[in-house]
Amino acid sequence: MPVISILNIKGGTGKSISTMWLATAATYSDQVTVPVHVADGDVAQGTLSAWYEDAQAAHAENPELPSANFELISGNYAQLLRGIKKVPKKDLVFVDGSPGDHSMVRELSALSDLVIIPTKGTPGELEQVLTIAERLRADNIPYRIIFTMWKKSANVIQELRDVLDSLDEPYIWPPIADTAFLSRAYGTLPRNHFKDMEGYDSLLEKVLEQLND
Ligand SMILES: Nc1ncnc2c1ncn2[C@@H]1O[C@H](COP(=O)(O)OP(=O)(O)OP(=O)(O)O)[C@@H](O)[C@H]1O
Ligand SMILES: [Mg+2]
Repeated sequence: MPVISILNIKGGTGKSISTMWLATAATYSDQVTVPVHVADGDVAQGTLSAWYEDAQAAHAENPELPSANFELISGNYAQLLRGIKKVPKKDLVFVDGSPGDHSMVRELSALSDLVIIPTKGTPGELEQVLTIAERLRADNIPYRIIFTMWKKSANVIQELRDVLDSLDEPYIWPPIADTAFLSRAYGTLPRNHFKDMEGYDSLLEKVLEQLND
């Protein structure tokens, strides 16, 4: 059962949207022939559960809108962990992590075949990313850093890739750009694999490559 967790201690780094878009990209991908699941690891906010329900309700009202062709795993902490462990071995699971919850990050990491750490790549965030990365490395859990809400602005570390390369930190390039479309994406799903993917389709391909490594 490949479990891919999208984790960062920092809030608002694109964990939930990356979980939804990667899971949808997986259902659109020829490379994924197994059932896909998403798990709402953000028990406190429940963003993913609400998003899933809103998207399904929107589809029920207007069948032209996409429906989620994946299953939602949600509930309290214990139910969530049980739910993830119960998924058939061959299926693919994307887990949305909760901000600020170190013990949850640790527990979800331990269940994961791959951890994705989304970040905007600002100096303050990088420090937190490196802290998580250090722990994952110590625990021998494969991980990749991804970049979200990417703007070529002054508050992004210009030499970010040089810094990560020099530290031998694994990341996936190119970044997901900051777009008006994604800023309004809550409650929606990308329409199909030709449209609205905003880079998450090629990101999925790279994530699957890492899994098969
Ligand atoms: N590429 C993007 N371009 C523009 N806006 C984005 C992009 N990615 C995410 N956002 C916006 O940033 C906000 C945070 O995204 P998201 O909820 O996915 O982050 P999160 O890490 O799950 O947050 P939290 O820590 O609160 O759970 C949302 O309003 C979302 O629409
Ligand atoms: Mg979230």
